[in-house]
Amino acid sequence: MLLAYSAWPEIEAWLKHSKTVVVPIGSNEQHGPTGLLGTDWMCPEIIAQAAHDKAPDAILVAPTFNIGMAQHHLGFPGTISLRPSTFQAAIGDWVSSLSRHGFERIYFLNGHGGNIASIEAAFSEIYAEWSFAEERCPFMLKLVNWWNLAGVEKLANAQFPTGHGSHATPSEIAVTQAAYPHAIKTANLAPRIAPTGPIRDALDYRARFPDGRIGSDPLQASPEKGRELIDLSAEGLLKDIQAFAAEVQP
Ligand code: NI
Repeated sequence: MLLAYSAWPEIEAWLKHSKTVVVPIGSNEQHGPTGLLGTDWMCPEIIAQAAHDKAPDAILVAPTFNIGMAQHHLGFPGTISLRPSTFQAAIGDWVSSLSRHGFERIYFLNGHGGNIASIEAAFSEIYAEWSFAEERCPFMLKLVNWWNLAGVEKLANAQFPTGHGSHATPSEIAVTQAAYPHAIKTANLAPRIAPTGPIRDALDYRARFPDGRIGSDPLQASPEKGRELIDLSAEGLLKDIQAFAAEVQP
């Protein structure tokens, strides 16, 4: 089920047989000269929707949380970022809204490495309230990056043995190409494989990584490779949420 395309009685009915919801979460930020600004929120959304296409009754997908922590990409136009504290507060409000109605398993499928620290910190803030109150938190939170779903990293490494890199990667761009073939871009990339290095503030980032990529050659992406990644990720997601739903609170 897709939450945004449902009416409230349908969600009320869903909650009678399942307490699990999947929230695709990402970022809107530069992805090099050929990558879409929406890449990091599109990938988890595409994968969650593919899982829904395979088994519509086995998954409830929330609207995509599409703006994340991307301060280091602010040197490139089109990037929109929340500061970590704003992002964490917003995650808290999403969780409070969903848990208020009885969701007990809230699964964040993430598409942006820069979100990880803030999402984990947001979870700790939420749990801390219950811990200080000496009460048991009535819900469980889980963060999974789509590239960590079963077998996905192995497939990406086989598809792109060199030039995968860590930002504007051929795997994430392939996923968007499969879903949005009309938006495929091309450019002359020099060097073909981008440099690597540390991530600090936005001006430092732009000086180190002038076209926005880190360690990647996104021209290796293709819609066919993207389709393989989506199919494997969607299968992994369905298995993972099933296991999460079955987790017993001790
Ligand atoms: Ni990305």
